[in-house]
Amino acid sequence: MIAAPTASLNVNTGVNTSNSNSDDVRQLIERYQAAGQGHLFNFYDDLNDDEKAKLVSQLEALNVERVNRIHQKATTCPSPMLNNQSATLAPLPEECFDSVLEASKDKTQEWRTVGLNQISQNKVAVILLAGGQGTRLGSSAPKGCYDINLPSNKSLFQIQAERIFKLQQLAQQQPGAVANVIIPWYVMTSGPTRPATVAFFQENNYFGLSSDNIVFFEQGTLPCLTFDGKIMMESKSQVAVAPDGNGGVYAALRGTGVLANMAERKIEYLHAYCVDNCLVRVADPVFIGYCVSKNADCGAKVVRKNTPDEPVGVVCLRNAAFNVVEYSEIDEDVAHATNPKNGQLLYSAANIVNHFYTTDFLNKVESFEGDLEYHIARKKIKTVDMQTGDVIAPKQVNGMKLEMFVFDVFPFTERMAVFEVDRREEFSPLKNAPGTGVDCPETSRRDILQQNVRFFEAAGGKVVVGEDDIQAEGTPTLELSPLVTYSGEGLAEIVAGKSIKTPVRVHSLEELKRAVF
Ligand code: UTP
Repeated sequence: MIAAPTASLNVNTGVNTSNSNSDDVRQLIERYQAAGQGHLFNFYDDLNDDEKAKLVSQLEALNVERVNRIHQKATTCPSPMLNNQSATLAPLPEECFDSVLEASKDKTQEWRTVGLNQISQNKVAVILLAGGQGTRLGSSAPKGCYDINLPSNKSLFQIQAERIFKLQQLAQQQPGAVANVIIPWYVMTSGPTRPATVAFFQENNYFGLSSDNIVFFEQGTLPCLTFDGKIMMESKSQVAVAPDGNGGVYAALRGTGVLANMAERKIEYLHAYCVDNCLVRVADPVFIGYCVSKNADCGAKVVRKNTPDEPVGVVCLRNAAFNVVEYSEIDEDVAHATNPKNGQLLYSAANIVNHFYTTDFLNKVESFEGDLEYHIARKKIKTVDMQTGDVIAPKQVNGMKLEMFVFDVFPFTERMAVFEVDRREEFSPLKNAPGTGVDCPETSRRDILQQNVRFFEAAGGKVVVGEDDIQAEGTPTLELSPLVTYSGEGLAEIVAGKSIKTPVRVHSLEELKRAVF
């Protein structure tokens, strides 16, 4: 790439390429200048050969024209909602929506059986979105490694892995199941989360799953930009980049060969979810069965909005297409509007980033990718002064990251299905630092323990709080491993009419038999 040195100063570029002169480098510089991003070579002359090569290879790999286009699009195409709000919004069509809160037990059971059958034929896989940097939580490790202080000290990754393990066992019991039921787990990481995530899985022996069925893949990055669209540098020889948002998953699935891997495994249906929801029902057979029964190409699990003012995005129609509309985009009267039939909010389907896709749909994303939106996140970005090269650790927001959101494909679905579930049972995200009181490690721990108590009591057991149980927020310390039960099934035959004393941590059905009295 870098040819023999010459002594000349390149007058066109103003950069001395004498040490590593080559037509390639000169052309690269000219290309960046033409794109209005020539400042990235401001310090080129100060760099040693290694640093020069590193910068050149980073800039060669970057499609600068695309970055400019994305910036242009993100900054000049404001949401169509901003001018004419309520006129373009419509509630979800009834035929696309069902609620587990309203459905009969038989109906729920029917969906579950359909889902389990698909799993039992090895047609279902899982996509985990774990590329976020978890800045609000403030942990240096990836969020999935976080210990929410359960008695077992299990990480979020382990809890999710054990749910997959248990579900494989449940599906294996379906009549006509294949000999070895497998739910492949596609784990999306990003540059910052990949090494620690992979190492954590290795150290923990893949939590009992087969490493052959866990596929790590990496989302892309985009450069950070100043407010006038100039690419920022993290050091004199490095562009500042950030993961391209959880919506980067679609390009990453394709670009890293995951779609091909799915095709090889003959996967037809996918469940995608966020790493930080401790209650997530990974590959939930009820949700999968519901979406398959509706012949959906894309599905969203939602929870009912608590109040009209709750600041969550809702799934609804925008300009006649499915979309997630942010709280800030909805007029107050629209947010308060109710359905005369049942008195519920018309716009109540709070998005929890828990999706269903057919593999056909995932393969189609490429055809409309150019039309997907980019969102601007204004952040404090570590950078260098472009005149002096001094490192700046900003105290104020100084630039932007460009992100895609995973739900931005909703407008392009042909057959969307929206499924409302019980928030208490399925949604408790870990977003904030310990002690903040909302969506934090303490609420995650509490919500799992409370669910375990509900499972136990619903199966006919009695929870006896021991004197030595230090209950946080009045929650008895009863931890049932996902290896004991996925969603409450299989407990009644062991616990009905029996008691268990807390604090207790139960790892297997055998342990449960010994713990009840
Ligand atoms: P959030 O938007 O809550 O971001 O991610 P975060 O990184 O977890 O936390 P903050 O905002 O920095 O505090 C929602 C989900 O999307 C994933 C996250 O890992 C999480 O599962 N995500 C986010 C990605 O996979 N890639 C990204 O670039 C961003």
